[in-house]
This record gives sequence, structure tokens and C-alpha cells, in this order.
Amino acid sequence: MSLFDQSEQERILELRKVLHRHNHLYYVESAPEISDREFDRLLAELAELESHHPELYDANSPTQRVGSDLSHKFEQVPHRYPMLSLGNTYNRADVEGFYRRVEEGLGGEPFEICCELKYDGLGISLVYEKGRLVRAVTRGDGVSGDDVTANVRTIKSIPLVLPEGAGWPESFEIRGEILMPWERFEQLNKARELRELPLFANPRNAASGTLKSQNSAVVAERGLDARLYYLLGEDIPAVSHYDNLEMARRWGFKVSPAMQRVSGLEAVFAYIDHWQEERKNLPVATDGIVLKVDSLSQQRRLGFTAKSPRWAIAYKYPAERALTRLVEVTYHVGRTGAVTPVANMEPVQLAGTVVRRASLHNQDIIEKLDLHIGDMVYVEKAGEIIPQIVGVAIEQRSGALGLKVKFIDHCPDCGAPLVRYEGEAATYCPNSTGCPQQIKGRIEHFISRDAMNISSLGPETVDEMFERGILHDAADLYRLGVQDLSGAYGTRERLAQNIVKAIARSRDTGFDRVVFALGIRFVGKVAAKSLATHFKTIDRLRCATKEELLCVEGVGEIIAGAVIEYFSNPRNLDFVTRLEAAGVNMAMPETQTVSQRLSGQSIVISGTFTHHSRDEYKALIEAHGGKNVSSISAKTSFILAGENMGPSKLEKAGRLGVRLMNEDEFLALIGGETPSL
Ligand code: IVH
Repeated sequence: MSLFDQSEQERILELRKVLHRHNHLYYVESAPEISDREFDRLLAELAELESHHPELYDANSPTQRVGSDLSHKFEQVPHRYPMLSLGNTYNRADVEGFYRRVEEGLGGEPFEICCELKYDGLGISLVYEKGRLVRAVTRGDGVSGDDVTANVRTIKSIPLVLPEGAGWPESFEIRGEILMPWERFEQLNKARELRELPLFANPRNAASGTLKSQNSAVVAERGLDARLYYLLGEDIPAVSHYDNLEMARRWGFKVSPAMQRVSGLEAVFAYIDHWQEERKNLPVATDGIVLKVDSLSQQRRLGFTAKSPRWAIAYKYPAERALTRLVEVTYHVGRTGAVTPVANMEPVQLAGTVVRRASLHNQDIIEKLDLHIGDMVYVEKAGEIIPQIVGVAIEQRSGALGLKVKFIDHCPDCGAPLVRYEGEAATYCPNSTGCPQQIKGRIEHFISRDAMNISSLGPETVDEMFERGILHDAADLYRLGVQDLSGAYGTRERLAQNIVKAIARSRDTGFDRVVFALGIRFVGKVAAKSLATHFKTIDRLRCATKEELLCVEGVGEIIAGAVIEYFSNPRNLDFVTRLEAAGVNMAMPETQTVSQRLSGQSIVISGTFTHHSRDEYKALIEAHGGKNVSSISAKTSFILAGENMGPSKLEKAGRLGVRLMNEDEFLALIGGETPSL
């Protein structure tokens, strides 16, 4: 475990304690010691950290009490066969030890080993009945796990229905790993960096945070993948593990082509050596290899210890680490004012790339490492793409010790004294309206590809126009003429004309992207889309109460609080008004009526869905002349029912005899005609 993980975990426990205390002071003692704003800020930090550490899930965490959008409201279901883990080994001697124990356990009988890659994601159990996926459950504590079926259904590489006649058993379970490919992981972190959200340390954390999301639209968007490696059931086809997986491949499961059946210890070591380098070219993360005795009857004879099978073992590759010199620590100010320390090091080769910089995250981490300029530091990339300094080679400090790294106390950009809120790890520049770096950051976010997509305008041009005093915020963009731009950062007239055209065109950007472009804290692309589809116009969004915001799918306390805060700031209101005056699109298109198939029908939407979001279903109902109502009554025509519908609603529907319709039936009913949503 890296130093950063440890401190994140400690921070989670600390924040829970602090928040419980303030909660008590507020609700029980009526004697708060901190402002609501401060409370919300701490809560937001905790929720973010918890999303990185699902293993620290606690139903009693303060984040669960308020039911944030990051809460884990999944039903717990027992596994039919317990989900055990594997014994880990880290060297050849231990692998040989495993091999000898198997030899001995089988009394000298010949055996084969199935060698596989150890995928570094989130273990999953998939249950199929009559060729259909019926349940997907996380490992949990091994005995029972979270029912994440609705989310898993959005993962394209997991078959929902198996091909007829392929020979699959009536009922079986297949286990494997849910993964976020490197490429997706990098995209996700880039987007999070723009929003100044804490980055996911590795694809495993990102996959696990994603799979536990309450909004299956988020899951669908993140492009998760899977590899399956273990078939279980009463009537599985073959007597060998390898053969079973080969069959599963024919039924449509993604089984790794790297799987290999070998005999003898030498062949096992050859497999380990081959993949030590080769695994770096794979699209997904691996952290070792898994060795399994191939014959199922031999597996049964070897049996299990309390925790793991005696017939399988994992070998973990050593984390890649390099030693280099710390040259300087610089500080980056983001658009929200958060100041991040960055270690600049002598370039060093690590896991296939040259590393020059590492994030130092915050002040506490610098202190914990006791960093001095000139120190030789260990840099690690243990499955993580962001290099981390994990320690200092104290023994290599000789002669005069360099200057101790001391976190700055003034903004490197505007000189304002920095602040650190009680209980928070991050340090902020509070000068949000006067700090150039923050202003430029907000403008860059506004023009970025996923926002207004004014890509011809580069950050250097933004910089220069800001310096020249003609750009104070993004609303000023709409007043720029060709003459303002030409000459700026070497911009020729042709390019200037193109930029002006691109800015003009951006007035018609979809309202959901405009909401994203505003740069409201915690409001990413998905939340922006939900907010835009739900409220339809900027006026309704601006006036929304917390209760109204909480009704939006995927919006919890944290996002709702951030939206309220954004629109309570007069400067933001002024900014939005100027955008509106400049002609920027501030509304969703009216949903056109497509048919009258649902005319006169009152429809309740309940549960979570795979094909569309709740708001999209609401729009579909209206587009077909129906009415979406919130509570079930005798007048309800039917319930559009997704996964995980609440028990009280189910009971009420049963009592009143209201019919449940699943999303496929509903889409068939409206004849597949969907207006542009
Ligand atoms: S087999 C009883 N095979 O590593 C055998 N596990 O601690 C159960 N893993 O929880 C697991 N790649 O999440 C198996 N090829 C592979 C694997 C694999 C990754 C994970 C799995 C398990 C953990 C072992």
C-alpha cells in the first residue's frame, strides 16, 4: 500500500470523527462550532475520499446519513459459493513452495497448471439462469456482496443473453474482474483534473468507484471492461478448469487469450518471465499472475484452507520503483483556488515512461516525507499512472542537508495569503475573483472540448488577452472582435477570424454543456446533463431549491449544495446574465410531441435503468402524450419499473393492482420512436 493510500484512509477515519462531532453539536446540542459551509466542505471531501476507498464503506459514515449521490445503497445478497481470495507470493521460492505442496498433496500424481494473468480490478460474480444474466454481485466480505446488476448491465463486454444452442448449462456462475482500461482511466483523470476533483490513484479504484455509482448512466459512460476466469455450478461442461473457460469463451464471455496450460515448474517460471514485460502492453492493469491446478478433481482433493484454495496461488510482480533527485517543489493553483504542490525531479525512466514530476498532494504529505531539496527520493508506479514519491533515501543524504521543503504561505500567482480550512487537507488561495491563475483556469474550462468547445482558442492566447485586460471572464469572449485577437500570441488575421467564428458558433452549444461550462464545483458532464434535462432552463435551475435539486437523478447533497452556493454568489449571477445577454443558449429544446400513444395515461417511474436516465424517460413519456406522476395511486396507469425498485412501492403497486412494465416493454410500447433527448 502506498503512503498516499494510508494517509487517505487515515483522513477518512479522522473526517468521520470530526463530522460526527459537528453533527452532534448542531443537531443535538444546537451549538454549532463551524459554519454550514465548512461542514459541507468537510463532507464533500469525505465523500470524495470514500469513493476511492469502497473497502472502507461504513453504513454509519456521515456521508450515508445525508444520502449523498456517492452513498452505497445496494442490496446485500449472499453468494451461492463463498468468494475466497488467493494466497499471495512475491518470489520464486514461494512459487516453488506452492508447486511442491501440490505435488505432495496429490501423492506424486502428474498434474497440469493453468497459468493466467492476475487482473487488477474489482472481483465480480455473474449468475446466469437459462442463458440470461440475472445477477451481478461484488465480492463484498466474500460471503455476501452488493447487488450491482443494473450497473453491470451497462458493461458492453458482459453478455446479457447467451447465444442459443451454445451448450451452456441451465444455471451457472462465472467470476472475473471488472476493469477500467488504461485509456479510459487517463481520460477520466484528465476530466477530473479540469474539474479539480481528486484524481483516482489507479484504474482499480476508478473501476470500483464507478461500479458503486448510483447512476448507471455514469457507469455506461465510463467504458468499463471485464475478464472472466472462473466457472462454477452443479453441471458445468468439462472436468478441467482450462477447458471450462474455453467453453465459456464460446458462449460469449471475454476470457483472456493469455491463459496457458503447462506442466512443470520451469514452464511456470517461463510464463512469469514472459508476462513480466509483456503485460505492460496490455490495455488493462495486471499486477501478477495466478496459477491454478487444472483438473477439477485434483482441485477437490487439494481443497481449501479457511481463506483460500490450496490449488491456486497468486504471484505478484514487484512494484516498479526508481530513485532520483528532488530538484524543486513548485505550486499549481487551480480554478477553484486549490494549491497543489508538485515535485520536480531529475528525469528518470520508470515503467516505460520518463518521469519528471510527481504530485505531492498537500502539505501534510510533504511533512510526513520530511522532504529536503536535493534529497534522493523513491518514485513508484505500482499500478498507478501518477508517479508518487513514496520515501526518501535518508542514507544517501550526505554533507549539508538541502533546504527543508516548506509549504508556501502566499499564492504563487497573486500573492494572497493562503488559507487552510479546519480539518481540510487542501490549501486554498481565497482570492477567487482577483487571482489570475483561477480566472484563466475558469476561462480554459469554459472553452474546453466537453464544455463550449472553442478549441481554436489556445491557453496561450487566453493568457495574453487576460494580460492585456480585454478578457476578465468567459462572458467577455463574446465581445471579442478580430482586431482584439489578431496579433495576440502571434495569431494571424485568418486564425483570428476563425476564432471569432468559433466563439459565435458556441452560442448554440447544447444547454447541458453550457451548464457544465459554468464550472460549478462537483458538477461534471453527467450531472450537468441531468440538471439541464431536469430543469430545462437556466431560470429554473437558478431558482431550484435544495429539495428540488435532490430529486434529480445522480444529484446528492454535495452537488445540490454546490449548485445552491454557485447561484447565491452575485458575481456568478452577473456572469450568467452576461452570457445570456450575449446570446448563449440557456434552455433545452422543447420536446416535440412524437405520438399520442400514451395520451391520458399517468405513469410512475421507479428504480434504476439501463437504456435511458429517469429524466430521459420522463421526456419520452411527455413526448408521447403521457403524464409522469410521482406517487402511485389507483389512477396510475402503469409503473415504468427499473432495477432495485423500493419494497414499499412494490407492495403498494401489488395492493392497488397497478401493472409493472420494464424498460424494454415500455420502449416497445412507444414503438422505438425517440425524439432527440
Ligand atoms: S481466481 C478461488 N483468477 O485476485 C479462486 N482471481 O485474491 C478465486 N484475480 O479476488 C480467484 N485475476 O479478484 C482468479 N486470473 C485470476 C484473477 C483473479 C485477478 C483477483 C480476484 C481475487 C484476487 C485474489
